[in-house]
Amino acid sequence: MASVVKSFSIEGVDGYVVEVEIKTILGQPMFSIVGLGDTAVKEAKERLEAVLSHKDFRFPKMKIVINLAPSSLKKRGSHFDLAMAVGLLMESNQAEPKHIGKYGFIGELSLDGRLRPCNGVLPMVMAAKEAGIKNVVVPVENLQEAALVNGIHAFGFSNIKEVIDFLEEKIPYQVPPTGNEEKVKHEFSLDFRDVHGQDAMIEYIVVAASGGHNMLMIGAPGCGKSMIAKRIPTILPAMSEQESLEVTKIYSVAGLLRKSGRLVRDRPFRAPHQNASTNALIGGGNNALPGEISLSHNGVLFLDEIAEFNRRTLDALRQPMEDQKVTISRVNFTNTYPANFMLVAAMNPCPCGHYGNDKCRCTDYEVLKYRQKISGPMLDRMDIQKYVQPVNFMELSGQKIERTSEELRQRVENARKVQQKRYADIPGINCNAQMTPALIEEYCELEEEGRRILKLAYDRFQYSARTFHKFLRVGRTFADMEESEKIRKKDIAAALMARDLDKEQSGMLVV
Ligand SMILES: Nc1ncnc2c1ncn2[C@@H]1O[C@H](COP(=O)(O)OP(=O)(O)OP(=O)(O)O)[C@@H](O)[C@H]1O
Ligand SMILES: [Mg+2]
Repeated sequence: MASVVKSFSIEGVDGYVVEVEIKTILGQPMFSIVGLGDTAVKEAKERLEAVLSHKDFRFPKMKIVINLAPSSLKKRGSHFDLAMAVGLLMESNQAEPKHIGKYGFIGELSLDGRLRPCNGVLPMVMAAKEAGIKNVVVPVENLQEAALVNGIHAFGFSNIKEVIDFLEEKIPYQVPPTGNEEKVKHEFSLDFRDVHGQDAMIEYIVVAASGGHNMLMIGAPGCGKSMIAKRIPTILPAMSEQESLEVTKIYSVAGLLRKSGRLVRDRPFRAPHQNASTNALIGGGNNALPGEISLSHNGVLFLDEIAEFNRRTLDALRQPMEDQKVTISRVNFTNTYPANFMLVAAMNPCPCGHYGNDKCRCTDYEVLKYRQKISGPMLDRMDIQKYVQPVNFMELSGQKIERTSEELRQRVENARKVQQKRYADIPGINCNAQMTPALIEEYCELEEEGRRILKLAYDRFQYSARTFHKFLRVGRTFADMEESEKIRKKDIAAALMARDLDKEQSGMLVV
């Protein structure tokens, strides 16, 4: 009979159990690994041979076959090493673990038998829990991450010898010392108190953060767009336990969790440079890994100088923005990652940046060309599109503290509480921006006056159905910020006022 040791694999951000079957057969010595493993899986052969030729063990001179079941699913990674080594030692009578069926194993081996940390431990341990496996053995560096899953016993070791001694119950398990527990701080060095003036803009930022709405800021150079955007993380509401877990899983798969091994508590804020490739933004590479849009899941993706991004790269955002997830297909893998983010973008109104001002020297054609770098459908997805006006001297030189991030965050938290209560029973919906058309119908009833204004604007500006729904979502957020059950006339008017570009195209707005 073959020896069977449990390990795990990952598809997208979800793990599943893999049974590693090891069989030694009398015959010409050879070693094969089957079960659709990638190169890293196949190279385990060489690592195992080196590890088991080390002083404590011997490498069986037999025909060895290892199968990773289910064999129909593609597997990647070097973390199967530990399960293979344990199975091979059992199969060659060098180890007699007492309760092998109760354990799952994750870990890469170095050539001298040390355990090396791996990516994706959190989703794999979550898969163990779902499959009823109560104990997991992991490299000591991954112990904190594995211990995030409640109801699982995680054991951390630094080499294969320790693992075997533990499984044979020769040496009792000793919890390895963890480094000094750093206090998780929620202090930010930036604060909205540094921004003078710009009250209207900051008000819209608060609305966007409250309802999770996409936002575009347009303004002259140096008026404070980047400054305001960098302070958005200081007012974002705390994540729920479920949201934290979703984000942590993505970071675990992307290999960004190794150092801390902690649950990601702060909402992500990612600000990729305008030179970012489509793969970096959407996800990709040989292993179809998550990109910036997935790393900003449940948080903010900030594209500064959005007009400088490659237009095709920007358009690749359109589909994930609608579906709130992205599927990346490569020759070897197809992975689906969550990508539910709030897009905040900033740009100048024209190449020189002074459009609407005497200083502007751009021709109409140049302005048009510049604006066309962002496609119509992309603009349509921006719920809030506002011009940022330069601050005047009095505001800039004043000493008055206009508002602090703490006050703004409190308002955002309050508005989120209203939304959480409303969507408590609806899975996958956390804020107004995520409302489906059915939910809009249920929760966005308008008063007669509000309906009339919306109809006027709709006819006048020939809005799309998407924009129509966006007005209702933003209007809902304005109402929630004042804890109003109904969407009032002023809420819908405020939502209509949030789109400066539409009015400009119709020649109504003078900047
Ligand atoms: N409202 C403001 N209050 C205080 N300082 C400001 C304000 N606006 C701009 N500044 C100062 O100007 C600097 C530049 O601002 P910022 O980088 O935000 O401009 P920007 O609008 O992003 O310009 P660009 O279009 O060139 O990127 C800030 O670092 C800050 O020192
Ligand atoms: Mg800037």
